[in-house]
Amino acid sequence: MLTDEFGREVTGVRVSLTDRCNFDCVYCHNEGLGDTRGPMDPQDDEMDTDDVVRFLEVAAEFDVDAVKFTGGEPMLRQDLEEIIERTPDQMEVSLTTNGTFLPGRAEALVDAGLERVNVSQDALDPADFAEITKSGAYEKVLEGVDAALEAGLDPVKLNMVVFEHTAGYVPEMVDHVAKHDGLQLQLIEYMPELTGKPEWNIDIERVHNWLAERAVDVEHREMHDRRRYWIAEGSVDDEDVTDVALDAADRSELGMVEIVDPVENPTFCANCHRVRVTHEGYLKGCLNRNDDLKSMGEMSKPEIREAFREVVANRVPYYGEYMVKNDDGEWVVNDEYIEEYAQA
Ligand code: 5AD
Ligand code: SF4
Repeated sequence: MLTDEFGREVTGVRVSLTDRCNFDCVYCHNEGLGDTRGPMDPQDDEMDTDDVVRFLEVAAEFDVDAVKFTGGEPMLRQDLEEIIERTPDQMEVSLTTNGTFLPGRAEALVDAGLERVNVSQDALDPADFAEITKSGAYEKVLEGVDAALEAGLDPVKLNMVVFEHTAGYVPEMVDHVAKHDGLQLQLIEYMPELTGKPEWNIDIERVHNWLAERAVDVEHREMHDRRRYWIAEGSVDDEDVTDVALDAADRSELGMVEIVDPVENPTFCANCHRVRVTHEGYLKGCLNRNDDLKSMGEMSKPEIREAFREVVANRVPYYGEYMVKNDDGEWVVNDEYIEEYAQA
């Protein structure tokens, strides 16, 4: 197990398999490298199957026990099943997808070893959905969610990026997951850095408070210091939430809503246990950083081991108390904190 200078053990990897996508979401950060999406044909800069597997085997040597495949849209890779099949057994395999290719393929992914899935869904109304994703594939996404549930991926987590455009849809999305068995909601704070897009952030604390007022139970989950809210059906509109809460016999009848708020949660980064690999095969210690190493395709296993150690050694929490905004509103390292930390 590798631990960085801030005491954070690296237990997970997040691997981008492509930057291609059939959607064009207004908020997309494209895994932190700016909007580089090109045509839909396979591109030479992507890691090939062996590159991905070789990296995962090295990560497994360092006791990494979870991998999340992401994109762009990772299901555009026809070798996704093969990659999952060849992933070391000790790793829990999850996938973040826009869901359009899940119908007809969810079962094969599960057979290959997929254990968890996040499907991006930012709105329930097809017109709102189309506006955000620039896609008319709303029905396909709903079918995809059903296909994932039928294939045994339970729960299916819906990813919703909360920012100016979508904040108004939060109540209906919360109600949606409270009503539907097997669905959970992840409300993700919009990250404006590196998107080159406007600062559309909203006050995420208000969403926390809104949920807390309606929750039957609030649970604290240590990983990434997240809070989970358990919500009963009907409690979104109901003024007197206590009755609704009392009627819910157990958690299986409740909807689970989790807020992922890296920007505003001061201890989020302090609990980050993942390193990342870009679709070109560049290892990075954080979404918001480029470590400037050789790509996976150019490295032998010993070199990947070395790169892994180097990236972990250089990891620095990006948001939170380690980082402060300067007068121009830019995030800069909080030197005071780093000094204090070094002395501790
Ligand atoms: N801020 C926060 N989350 C984002 N995602 C994409 N762009 C952003 C952004 N700017 C997340 C969404 C999507 C997943 C692929 O990445 O949750 O579902
Ligand atoms: Fe980006 Fe995901 Fe939307 Fe594709 S579906 S544009 S990768 S956020």
